[in-house]
Amino acid sequence: MHPALNIIIKAARRASQIINRASLDLEHLQITTKRQSDFVTEVDKAAEAAIIDVLREAYPEYGILAEESGQTAGSAGGSEYQWIIDPLDGTTNFIHGFPQYAVSIALAHRGQVTQAVVYDTVRNEMFTASKGGGAFLNERRIRVSKCLRLDEALIGTGFPYRIYDHIDAYLAIFKELARKSAGIRRPGAAALDLAYVACGRFDGFWEFGLSPWDIAGGALLISEAGGLISDLAGNETYLQSGNLVAGNPKVFAQLLQVIDGHRTPGLMA
Ligand code: IPD
Ligand code: CA
Ligand code: CA
Repeated sequence: MHPALNIIIKAARRASQIINRASLDLEHLQITTKRQSDFVTEVDKAAEAAIIDVLREAYPEYGILAEESGQTAGSAGGSEYQWIIDPLDGTTNFIHGFPQYAVSIALAHRGQVTQAVVYDTVRNEMFTASKGGGAFLNERRIRVSKCLRLDEALIGTGFPYRIYDHIDAYLAIFKELARKSAGIRRPGAAALDLAYVACGRFDGFWEFGLSPWDIAGGALLISEAGGLISDLAGNETYLQSGNLVAGNPKVFAQLLQVIDGHRTPGLMA
């Protein structure tokens, strides 16, 4: 196993102790509203600090992009390496005791993700991937599903919940996919949704307006599991645009085709 992946796993486990302990006492959780429908708890912050402690101790020179604390340079300044951290993906679920959330940590080298962990702390499911080394769930190799047809495919998504600029295009896609797929699910933790594509629980996925920390870990899981992931134009800029389509190769192509029919000038990539 790549040494950096070992460290990421250690950091994710450290965060999970904080998250799992807090999940037993949700009544006393301190919640702050960042923006409308955008919540942060003391748990997000404490988990992020714990993750950064572990990563920094092992690799002080690497830069960091973390959801709650933003961008920090490494000890040596402009490192080619950057950790991309979502300490608790699915905070709204967590606050409600809805057991679908995860820790997501990735390592990027010159903007390319090379190591990734998405850890479901409720089910103790550890998804890991190293570039060129395959994707795993609790150390067993995972692959995307073999589903060939959209009408047999289970599709994951995330609803727009804070920015509604593209709600009409989103709903038009939703309407068409509701008719053309076998079903649509909105579990509420994007990193875990992507891990579910990687292990074949979902055949495809789409969402708009995500942040790099929601996507980075899950994207490597998907490509290492034999899946495809792109922005809405079929290109690789999804970490920048935040809009993405993913799936096994067959379902991915059919999803992209449906979405292509609803792209607007403001929603091109
Ligand atoms: C959110 C979740 C959700 C997605 C949102 C994300 P957070 O992350 O991944 O599924 O729809 O766009 O912001 O805020 O809980 O870390
Ligand atoms: Ca997130
Ligand atoms: Ca988060």
